[in-house]
Amino acid sequence: MKALVFHKPGDVRVETIDDPKIEDKRDAIIRVTATAICGSDLHIYNGFLPQARPMALGHEFMGIVEETGSEVGNLKKGDRVVVPFPIACGTCFFCHHDLPGHCENSNPEFYGPEGNVTNQKGGALFGYTDLYGGYNGGQAEFVRVPYADYGPRKVPDTLSDEQVLFLTDIFPTGYSGVDWAGVKGGEVVAVFGCGPVGLMCMKSAWLRGAKRVIGIDVEPYRLEMARKLCNAEVVNASETDPIEFIRAASEGRGADVCVDCVGMEAHRSILDKALNIVKGQVGSVSVLDNCISAVRRGGWVTILGVYPMNYDFPVGKMFDKGIFIGQGQAPAHAHIDKLLAHIEKGEFKADDIITHRLKLDDAPHGYEIFSKKQDNCVKVVLTP
Ligand SMILES: NC(=O)c1ccc[n+]([C@@H]2O[C@H](COP(=O)([O-])OP(=O)(O)OC[C@H]3O[C@@H](n4cnc5c(N)ncnc54)[C@H](O)[C@@H]3O)[C@@H](O)[C@H]2O)c1
Ligand SMILES: [Zn+2]
Ligand SMILES: [Zn+2]
Repeated sequence: MKALVFHKPGDVRVETIDDPKIEDKRDAIIRVTATAICGSDLHIYNGFLPQARPMALGHEFMGIVEETGSEVGNLKKGDRVVVPFPIACGTCFFCHHDLPGHCENSNPEFYGPEGNVTNQKGGALFGYTDLYGGYNGGQAEFVRVPYADYGPRKVPDTLSDEQVLFLTDIFPTGYSGVDWAGVKGGEVVAVFGCGPVGLMCMKSAWLRGAKRVIGIDVEPYRLEMARKLCNAEVVNASETDPIEFIRAASEGRGADVCVDCVGMEAHRSILDKALNIVKGQVGSVSVLDNCISAVRRGGWVTILGVYPMNYDFPVGKMFDKGIFIGQGQAPAHAHIDKLLAHIEKGEFKADDIITHRLKLDDAPHGYEIFSKKQDNCVKVVLTP
């Protein structure tokens, strides 16, 4: 079959690799009908997350069930499903606590309680390096889905692939940013980053009844999308100090909730890059610093953008302000059913952020324009 294979930073290719096979009674093989490129894929593509051997990438995918293992009673050949991005067993302590990203069984080689950089990660993710389980991903014609009696959700034929595809990751992820913070109505929510995750987060803030939604980015075309599609007030952080803007919009207090939808790949100055080298750090923590400054006392900072290592942290400021933190891989399984219902009822539109529809063969081009923010690219959907 064909798959998008990562070789080394900046080098991804569509190649023929072995068809996946049922390896466990709880596996299913899915024929992929639509898959997307995520900001998280860029961390591998840009060399921020190491991956030594070739691997098929992609954790945002959906398709048709082709084959099932003997213990997958809930699915049959021909069912149309979306698959949440964490690989989770459904039976361990963490799965029972709705924390599928911390599944104790899916990543036996590199799982551990410490959560350190090199050898103790959480549960596995599709197509997301050996450290996260070493499973091939779904930017491919077929994919093996472990624990298929727990993850995949059937979707109604009345909804198109594009309408439901983002239930795999960015919709539940954006939603987690406001859910962790307990947004229940009337809040000022500031979302740093107007990429796909930030856009889903802004839409989710309205869904949960926010009073004001502010989107911050450094790319004018992405700010324009936040304004148009998410009805957000927007701030270009390279022109206006977002902290001052947010305080002015909240009677000087700061936002009730600041969501970091940028992560370590925040835009860096030459000075930042030099400091990185001195400190031996990867990427930047500047957006998280902004969130901690721009949130009100007793407010919530939620972190969806990925940070793969430890950084210096303003713990004194956080303590004085009494800030609450929610963060990590989003518990997609925990939200997917109710979010599907919102799409079905027409209460949430996810697919309007798609800017590029490409064939799987053109995936390397998709990576390039998404990474370099060329051609006003926001979200690429691939079809095999
Ligand atoms: N926690 C999870 O479960 C989860 C799931 C999916 C994605 N993610 C992570 O979320 C992050 C965003 O993903 P995405 O797909 O939207 O990626 P993206 O790279 O398209 O979006 C990031 C946005 O941040 C903007 N940005 C850069 N520097 C900035 C700054 N200083 N201030 C404000 N904005 C700035 C960029 O212009 C871009 O629009 C990534 O780190 C991704 O890995 C996490
Ligand atoms: Zn993703
Ligand atoms: Zn588990």
